[in-house]
Amino acid sequence: MTKPTPLLALNWKMNKTPSEARAWAAELAERFAGEAAELAVMAPAIDLPGVADALRGSRVAYGAQDVSAFESGAYTGEISAAMLRDVGATYAIVGHSERRAYHAETDEKVAAKTRAAMHAGLVPIVCVGEELPVREAGEHVAFTLTSLRGSLADVNVEDASALVIAYEPVWAIGTGKTATAGDAEEMAAAIRGELRTLLGDVADGVRVLYGGSVKPGNIAEMCGKANVNGALVGGASLELDSVLGMAGALGV
Ligand code: PGA
Repeated sequence: MTKPTPLLALNWKMNKTPSEARAWAAELAERFAGEAAELAVMAPAIDLPGVADALRGSRVAYGAQDVSAFESGAYTGEISAAMLRDVGATYAIVGHSERRAYHAETDEKVAAKTRAAMHAGLVPIVCVGEELPVREAGEHVAFTLTSLRGSLADVNVEDASALVIAYEPVWAIGTGKTATAGDAEEMAAAIRGELRTLLGDVADGVRVLYGGSVKPGNIAEMCGKANVNGALVGGASLELDSVLGMAGALGV
């Protein structure tokens, strides 16, 4: 199996105003010279037009941190996949653990968002991962695969090559506690196996990312195993030097 092109996805979360984001992206476009893999900035939706302007002509992609499950209409405050496509977004994070925790997003809701994103031609980065008690009980694989199945319910196999999965153990997000590379590979291999059952051969081309306290010093190790195809990075994605360090370490 040829490994899919690695993806380094930067999850800024609720950081950077539109003017800060534009200036940051302009500097990134100037300094980023990578070729071997893909780099994508997942910005707050209001930052995207400025980020798009600043990244025009560069090899850096961008996307949103969430997307509505609905196509259009009376959904106050929501942002549709078509709106994101209109500003040139390639990706949307779907089902991040912070959205699951603070906005009561269930697997069912996440699946509806995944389908809406794919339908509009956006690539969803679907996040799954267990909390600490689940891991301590040794149920992390079963739990995560159940959540994966739920989050991909009724996904169309033909569209599935444009799909990214991020395994993010909740206990490792923003805590400084990283899973080991072995933990990441164990779950990524299990996820790929499940994807094969759900999607057939397309599964081999689906990128499975690891996320949770990734930084320049550990990214190469965390993404070095057979089934891990890059990283979704929060805290360490805010500083340009740290991003360029991670890109370099990943061979991006
Ligand atoms: P972190 O966040 O890198 O700050 O742990 C990762 C994420 O939430 O996507």
